[in-house]
Amino acid sequence: MDHLNIPRDFLIGAATAAYQIEGAVREDGRGPSIWDTFCHQPGNIDRGHNADTACDHYHRYQEDVGIMDQLSLDAYRFSISWSRIFPEGKGRINPKGLAFYDRLIDSLLEAGITPFTTLFHWDTPEALYQQYGGFAGRETCYHFADYTKTVVNHFGDRVKHWITVNEPWEHATFGHLFGHHAPGKRNPWTFWRAMHHILLGHGMAMQAIRSEDSTAKAGLTLSYTPMHIKGSRAIDLEAAKTANAFMNGIAFDPIFKGHYPEVLWQRFRWFRPPVNPGDFDIIQTPTDFTGLNYYSREFVRGNRLVPGLRGTFVARRPEPDPYRYTAMDWEIYPEGFNELLTLMRAEYGNPPVYITENGAAYFDKVDHGIVSDQPRISYLRSHIHEVLKARQEGTDVRGYFAWSLLDNFEWAKGFSTRFGLVHVDYESGKRTIKNSGYWLQQQIRQRGALE
Ligand code: NOJ
Repeated sequence: MDHLNIPRDFLIGAATAAYQIEGAVREDGRGPSIWDTFCHQPGNIDRGHNADTACDHYHRYQEDVGIMDQLSLDAYRFSISWSRIFPEGKGRINPKGLAFYDRLIDSLLEAGITPFTTLFHWDTPEALYQQYGGFAGRETCYHFADYTKTVVNHFGDRVKHWITVNEPWEHATFGHLFGHHAPGKRNPWTFWRAMHHILLGHGMAMQAIRSEDSTAKAGLTLSYTPMHIKGSRAIDLEAAKTANAFMNGIAFDPIFKGHYPEVLWQRFRWFRPPVNPGDFDIIQTPTDFTGLNYYSREFVRGNRLVPGLRGTFVARRPEPDPYRYTAMDWEIYPEGFNELLTLMRAEYGNPPVYITENGAAYFDKVDHGIVSDQPRISYLRSHIHEVLKARQEGTDVRGYFAWSLLDNFEWAKGFSTRFGLVHVDYESGKRTIKNSGYWLQQQIRQRGALE
């Protein structure tokens, strides 16, 4: 059945992030971020791509809002570039940075689209990196709270939904442990410090939001990756549990339980971050909702030779079938949503939840003005179906944002993998709505029809 029967009050939107779409990196007084620096160091990004121009959304935002309107989206999740507002990360405010988001937000509101605004989507101001190591340094949390105050004070009359930070684990791990994201560090101590400080920064930003606008709704966005076991030995199970603590529990447990997972705290004790008294209280500042990003699962197998983890992630063996694996080589596993949303209900107190990202990358091409992306339609349909099922079972899930509105700069992968509902020709900037975009438009328009 093509028709998903989405309930009338279930919000549907699309998501992006500043660095991935805006371009105009040197315009109107924007200061550099760690991603500008990282992209211009040879060897970091596939094919030497950088996001200097990206989708040129900075200049084409009106056209992009027009597309959202055409797609009948209820909401748009985007992020603010911290270094457009504070070119040095702190101190001097850049009015032209505020003015850009004024224009964007006003256009959204005119089109009847609700802004969901992310404050930090990985693009730390370079100056704060130079001075404090970015989020590896505790000082950055305080500057993040100041930036949040400024932004909420300025936009709070029009923006009522805030996401403090996006995917703390990915920024901490890819940027500070594996080194394939900015700032390109490979250091377990730095990794856990960054992790702790992003969570702490989230808590401080929550308090800043509360102090500026008591009517705002706010929370953070966490990623979740189901960790499944390859093998049936006790050590396989143990490795899967530890890997789960490393990838999921490390963010979920501090937020919902007020401590790091015990297994990490013990096994990786050498790398523990400095934790001040009261940190977990700040991290646990009450939120109004939790944003969740879900894409795929991982497999883990036990291995006594690996210190700490005592296991390894099983390498994926992607098949060329686009209905089983996406262009990221990620397995398509919609049931993972059920696992996650059941967990939110059973383990984490059933907080209000928005799916802030979910989607699939392919190597889409435009053919005679059409992008026929049937595998993406199938991906979206099966995943939204799982979300709605969990809602019927009692999970308090209130909306779904497709990643992404536009094809965009996929970090270390550059522009080759395309996640958009809308195709972008990076040479000309031309946008073409993909069939998946039209499909989602239909689902929205038919929403509630069977109620
Ligand atoms: C999560 C990140 O928030 C987003 O920036 C990224 O493009 C998508 N996942 C796809 O990898």
